[in-house]
Amino acid sequence: MKLAVLSDIHGNLEAFQAVLDAIEHLRIDTVISLGDNIGYGPDSEAVVALIRARKIASVLGNHEMAVKNKHNLAWFNPVAQTALAIAQSQLSDASLAWINQLPRYRVTAGLRFVHGAPPDSAFLYLFQLPENKLIQKLAQSDESVCFVGHTHELGIISWDGTRLEKHPPGPGRYALDPDHKYIINAGSVGQPRDGSAGAKFVLYDTGTRELTVRAVAYPFEKTQRKIIAAGIPRMYADRLAMGTDPSKVKGTNQ
Ligand SMILES: [Fe+2]
Repeated sequence: MKLAVLSDIHGNLEAFQAVLDAIEHLRIDTVISLGDNIGYGPDSEAVVALIRARKIASVLGNHEMAVKNKHNLAWFNPVAQTALAIAQSQLSDASLAWINQLPRYRVTAGLRFVHGAPPDSAFLYLFQLPENKLIQKLAQSDESVCFVGHTHELGIISWDGTRLEKHPPGPGRYALDPDHKYIINAGSVGQPRDGSAGAKFVLYDTGTRELTVRAVAYPFEKTQRKIIAAGIPRMYADRLAMGTDPSKVKGTNQ
């Protein structure tokens, strides 16, 4: 089975459409979103409508969790709360109903899909976990590969039963060892924080265990204009050009 795994689209319709265009001819069997489909970007409603129209399976991100239960809003900083309130005001009843029925995790083809950290957290960041906790999670996992998002940065964590290795992959192909367990961070489609502007996502072939990391260019200037016009805090527009950290800019066409 060939899967495309997308995460943290964050209401960025231009980035999402560029990713869908990039995978259109790849004979992908299943597209899965790891959540945070909404918030920060200007098109939360349009993104959810397109996910539903394409019948893309999703799990709950922390942004969907806040829409589902307002008590979760306290987790967010005030600027993020402002952006999320604007996103929520856009959502139709049908989109809210769709969000309310999303699961915290999915298991498909022997793979686990969750927003933050296995087994089922939408809020926990991988970087908050010390090495012994990561190993514990990998050891306890029934699945050999778990896909996560949430940090908006690509990552591969592998464990061979004794040694844990972490590295941030660039675009390219990676052969996963059948004897190792993995946590793969799919990065972010619509709000990358990895120092480059391209929309990030991954492909995975369960037959060959080949992981492909992709970054596609999209017209982020258009998204920036829409963010500013919608009254969403400007930092979410500025970030799109630089992937958060200006010192790490690698260009905009990866
Ligand atoms: Fe996110």
